[in-house]
Amino acid sequence: MYTSDAMLESIKKVEATRPSRVGVLPERMTADEKEALLSQYHPDYKEDGFEVLQVGPNKGDKVPTELAALLQANSRIPGLNVDLNKVDYDVDVLVIGGGGAGSSAAIEAHENGANVMIVTKLRIGDANTMMAEGGIQAADKENDSPAIHYLDALGGGHYANVPELLKKLVTEGPGAVKWLNELGVMFDKAPDGTMITTHGGGTSRKRMHAAKDYSGAEIMRTLRDEVLNRGIPVIDFTAAIELIKDEEGKVAGAVLLNMETHDVMVARAKTVIIATGGAGRLHYQGFPTSNHYGATADGLILGYRAGAKLLYADTLQYHPTGAAFPSQILGALVTEKVRSLGAQVLNKDGIAFVHPLETRDVEAAAIIRECQDRDGGIETGEGLAVWLDTPLIEEIHGEGAIEKGIPAMLRMFSKYGIDIRKEPILVYPTLHYQNGGLQIAADGQTGVENLYVAGEAVGGIHGRNRLMGNSLLDVIVFGRNAGQHASEKAKSVKVGKLTLSHVEQFAEEMKQAGVESSIVSPKLLPNYTHQKDI
Ligand code: FUM
Repeated sequence: MYTSDAMLESIKKVEATRPSRVGVLPERMTADEKEALLSQYHPDYKEDGFEVLQVGPNKGDKVPTELAALLQANSRIPGLNVDLNKVDYDVDVLVIGGGGAGSSAAIEAHENGANVMIVTKLRIGDANTMMAEGGIQAADKENDSPAIHYLDALGGGHYANVPELLKKLVTEGPGAVKWLNELGVMFDKAPDGTMITTHGGGTSRKRMHAAKDYSGAEIMRTLRDEVLNRGIPVIDFTAAIELIKDEEGKVAGAVLLNMETHDVMVARAKTVIIATGGAGRLHYQGFPTSNHYGATADGLILGYRAGAKLLYADTLQYHPTGAAFPSQILGALVTEKVRSLGAQVLNKDGIAFVHPLETRDVEAAAIIRECQDRDGGIETGEGLAVWLDTPLIEEIHGEGAIEKGIPAMLRMFSKYGIDIRKEPILVYPTLHYQNGGLQIAADGQTGVENLYVAGEAVGGIHGRNRLMGNSLLDVIVFGRNAGQHASEKAKSVKVGKLTLSHVEQFAEEMKQAGVESSIVSPKLLPNYTHQKDI
């Protein structure tokens, strides 16, 4: 399948250096080397990729240009006939989003006796959780502890993680994995039933629990079954396009749009949980993405317009190893587990130029530098890329290790005639995760009363860079947390008269600030055609 002469020549060099690389890794970088590398090559440091907000709770803060355009855009409401007196759904807890966080939240709210409903613009499970591959971290081994997990995540996050959120993440990690195991997730286990755990970038202990490299799909399968088995109502193909408040300014529901019929509905709720996931489909700075089709930052827009603050919205995660060839899978995730099993990152001369398990921001920046400034990249037809030497895995662990450990990768590339057991693969950073998002307290509530957030739409848990496996953990820990607190709070909430006046106020604030926009948000779906957005 590799046809270009340059690729074939380069593969020969990779094969030639392979025997001398078994068990030999490049030195880890020092803190100073990392800082210098990041500031010059990581996309978060590119000033022209960002814009300063003129309106809203984060006025004066910079966010990615594409996100700024949606945060300071027009609501969909003025073009629609919304009658707040006609309530279509009346629930205790409304969960917006049907991924891992939304499902976990709904399960716990239901467990607490709430009348809970999920709305999702696609179908339950169509979410970034489903796309996660490598695993979920939890400090449940004897040589590990939540305190060690805390320090790893804090270092990876550049010491910017919100302490109370990070503490919750790591202390509730073992319980979260136990909960999933009991729900039926088929984690990788040794014959005696103990969990098999591995390293990820930046982990000082082996605490990654996986289901081969289908970890997210397996977790999502289990959560979806649990939601459906409990009979929790799930309204598919229905997007939330604006939050509703009551006359006291407390969140009290959402305006819904049926994605197929474009019918508009009103959901009244005592509490609302935003669990809408990430933003990869906004393709910041032109990057491809590993994200799900629906990852368009909708929850950030809804929350921001309702007055909720963003935290660290200027920091994104570019996964170091997105597929760079063939173009049909451009940007698709090549799980960090591939490097965790021993695959090395090589330049066109077959030289390992970076330790394979640096934290993701450092690893990605090193790859960008190698291609941009060190003439180490291989042309793919879509741009430059570097090798990930997958055959090394079987040199280290023996024949069959790839099929056993990373069958999804084997399958993804084999569809295009690439046998990753025999040939290396071409990779380049891909937009993977939104480190920032809506600011919450430890109970999951934003600064706007009765509005809760969980999952990738939250900012602060991971600081300015997340470690592998802490996202699957956070959707479970903070999803359950939001479900528990939102359902408890709902018991004492009396919803007043419904209003959308905050939407008008935001539009007025834009006008006063001289911000004009021709677009509407939330975006809901990416537009890869030249047709008008819905
Ligand atoms: O590389 C991966 O498998 C991704 C995991 C994550 O983002 O946590």
